[in-house]
Amino acid sequence: MSSIKIEISQNTRSKIEEICKSYNYEQGELINVLHKTQEYLGYLPAEAQEVIAKEMNIPTAKVYGVVSFYSFFTMIPKGRFPISICMGTACYVRGAEKILDEFKNQLGLSVGETAPDGLFSLASLRCVGACGLAPVVLVGDKVYGRLATDDVKDIIAEFKNSADVI
Ligand code: FES
Repeated sequence: MSSIKIEISQNTRSKIEEICKSYNYEQGELINVLHKTQEYLGYLPAEAQEVIAKEMNIPTAKVYGVVSFYSFFTMIPKGRFPISICMGTACYVRGAEKILDEFKNQLGLSVGETAPDGLFSLASLRCVGACGLAPVVLVGDKVYGRLATDDVKDIIAEFKNSADVI
């Protein structure tokens, strides 16, 4: 997995500083600070971790260590259209794995990856509570149900086209 060097804006920096302040710079609150920052940015780039380390007076290596240890933290930015395939039981028995494979093939991505052009990223989810529509895929907050592998290229095309229009 390659890491992407990203400059964070002054605004983002101030927002992260605010988050650290709201937790009183308490080192025991590091996980909460990281959560809030990820909620705000969608991921935790190295530069954001450095700001947190400085503000909280914690060695950067320790912050990196915590971020890498917990799977709910991510250092990779999501795509503009994040695709999530439900792998819950109902979806799984109705062929979610084939749908996932089709997305992987069509996009050339593995789960957890983002396309180099930043358009799509691929993730798997547990049950999203729409089992009646299994197999289910989310693209951003749009829900697609009762999917067949043939639908995958149409979904990708739909978002690619909308990206061209915007
Ligand atoms: S298992 Fe996929 S929505 Fe419930």
